[in-house]
Amino acid sequence: MNLFAGRCPGKPEAVFIFLCQKEKPLSQASKQVDRLSQGGLSRILELGFKGKRKESELLVLPSGRWRLAVLLGVGERKGLNGEVFREAVASGLKRISGYKVSRVEVELLDPGESGLSLEEEARAAGEAFWFASYRYSEFKKPDRVFPKEVWILGADKKARDALFLAQVVGEEHCFARELVNKPGSELWPEKFAEEARRSGRRFGFKVKVYDEKALSRMGYNGIVRVGQGSRRPARLVELSYRGASVREGTIGLVGKGVTFDTGGISLKPPQGMETMKDDMTGAAVVLGVMRAAARLDLKLNLAGVIPLVENMPGGAAQRPGDIIRMADGTTVEVISTDAEGRLILADGLYHCRRLKPKQMIDIATLTGACRMALGRFAIGLMGNSEELLSRISQSGALSGERCWILPLWDDYLELLKSDAAELKNGNWGREAGTIVAGIFLKHFVGEVPWAHLDIAGTAWADEAHPYLGRGPTGKGLRLLVRYLEQVEKTR
Ligand code: BES
Ligand code: MN
Ligand code: ZN
Repeated sequence: MNLFAGRCPGKPEAVFIFLCQKEKPLSQASKQVDRLSQGGLSRILELGFKGKRKESELLVLPSGRWRLAVLLGVGERKGLNGEVFREAVASGLKRISGYKVSRVEVELLDPGESGLSLEEEARAAGEAFWFASYRYSEFKKPDRVFPKEVWILGADKKARDALFLAQVVGEEHCFARELVNKPGSELWPEKFAEEARRSGRRFGFKVKVYDEKALSRMGYNGIVRVGQGSRRPARLVELSYRGASVREGTIGLVGKGVTFDTGGISLKPPQGMETMKDDMTGAAVVLGVMRAAARLDLKLNLAGVIPLVENMPGGAAQRPGDIIRMADGTTVEVISTDAEGRLILADGLYHCRRLKPKQMIDIATLTGACRMALGRFAIGLMGNSEELLSRISQSGALSGERCWILPLWDDYLELLKSDAAELKNGNWGREAGTIVAGIFLKHFVGEVPWAHLDIAGTAWADEAHPYLGRGPTGKGLRLLVRYLEQVEKTR
C-alpha cells in the first residue's frame, strides 16, 4: 500500500468521504457523488444517515469517476480527534472488502473550528490505512485484499508532510507487528539480531550485537541467567542513530526482547501461553522506532538497547532461589523465573547508562498485573522524572496511545526485600505487581531521567481493536515516534 497526496491520475474505484453530524455535506466530492448517484447521497441523509461516529454507508455509482462512494460519519465537529478518523478509515475499508478496489481517493474534511488540524487529520487518516490493512500472512492467505494506492484530496503543504510521517509510521508499525506475530519457531534472539542488522544496513544506523560469551564476560548475568534455559543463546543488540551533533545528547530506548516466555522453571499455565510470543513487543517497537527515526531523518541522537532471550525451562535453566550478581553488581534472588523481564531489562538499562544518555525510556510487556489495573486501554507509565512523564503522556494522547501514571515511591521497595540477596525479583502477594516491577527497574537506572512503559495489557488484542483487529497492536511505536518529534521541535 502507498499513500499519495493529490488526485489519482488513474481510475480510482472508490472515494471515501467524511461527514459531520448535524451538517449539510457541501464538500466537492460529496456534491459530485450526489450528482453521480442522481441524488442518492441526499436520499440516504433523508433516510436517516446522520454522520454519527462509527456510522458508514456504501453507494454504488452508475457512472463517473468512481464506482463506489463510502460515506463515513465522524460525529460532531467539536468532538473530532485523530482516533475518530482512524476508526472511520477502518470502517471504510471494511465496507469495500470483497470488492475489487485497488485505488481509493479520500477527501479530507476541513476540520474548521474543531480542535483538530488538517495536518493531524491527514496523518490519522493516512496511517489508519496501514494499521487496518495489515495481515500476518506468512502461513495463511489473508482474508481479503486491500487497496494498493490511497490518494488524499485536499491536503495543503503541512498535510502533505504529515502524510509522509503517516507512511513511515504506518510501515514501521506493520514491521513491528510482523515481528511480534512470528511464533517462537520463527524468531529467536539471533534471528532478531539479524533482523536488526539488516535494518541498520538498510536505513543507515549502527548495529552492534553482543553474543552470550560477550555478555558473560561483561557480567550481564541478568540476561545470561534468563537465557541459559534455552538452546537459543541470548543476545544484546545495541543500535545507534546519529542525526545531530554530539552536544545534543542521546536518548536511550530499551526494549524487552523475550522472544518466547514460557515462564521458565516457574512454568506458566498452558492456557493462553501461545500469546507469549508477543513478549518481545518492546524490542520490536524500539527497532521500529529507530527505523522510523532514520527514515524521517530526525535531528537527534538515539541509542537503542535490546536484550534478547528465550525464557525456557531446561536442564541448564536457572532455578527459583538462585541468586544473580547483576551487571551493576547488585545481587538478586530469583523468586520466580517468570519475572524474567525485569532481570534482562535491569542489565539492558545498565548497558544503556554506560552509553551516557540524557534520558532513557524502556518499553516492556512486563506485568500481567498491568492489565488488571488498567485494562487494554492504557499503557502503564512510571519513572523518576515528572517532566519526562508528562511529556510522554502528552505524546501518548496525541498519538492515540494513552498512558496512565503510577507511583514509584520508595515505600514499595519493602516488597522486594530478600533475606539472601540485596533484592528479590518479585513477591508472591498480589500487591501492586506493576509498580513492584517498576521499582525494581528504578534501582538500576541511577540518576538518569527515566520513564518505563508497561505494555503488558495493551500489546496484544484478544478482542478486535477498532482499527488494529486481533493480535499485536505495536503499542508504543506511535507514542515514541511522536515523543521524538516533540523533542526535535522543542530543541
Ligand atoms: N511476560 C510476562 C508478563 C505478561 C503477562 C505479559 C500477561 C502479557 C500478558 C512477564 O514476564 C511475567 O510473566 N510477569 C509475571 C511477574 C510475576 C511472576 C511477578 C506476571 O505478570 O505474572
Ligand atoms: Mn514471564
Ligand atoms: Zn515476560
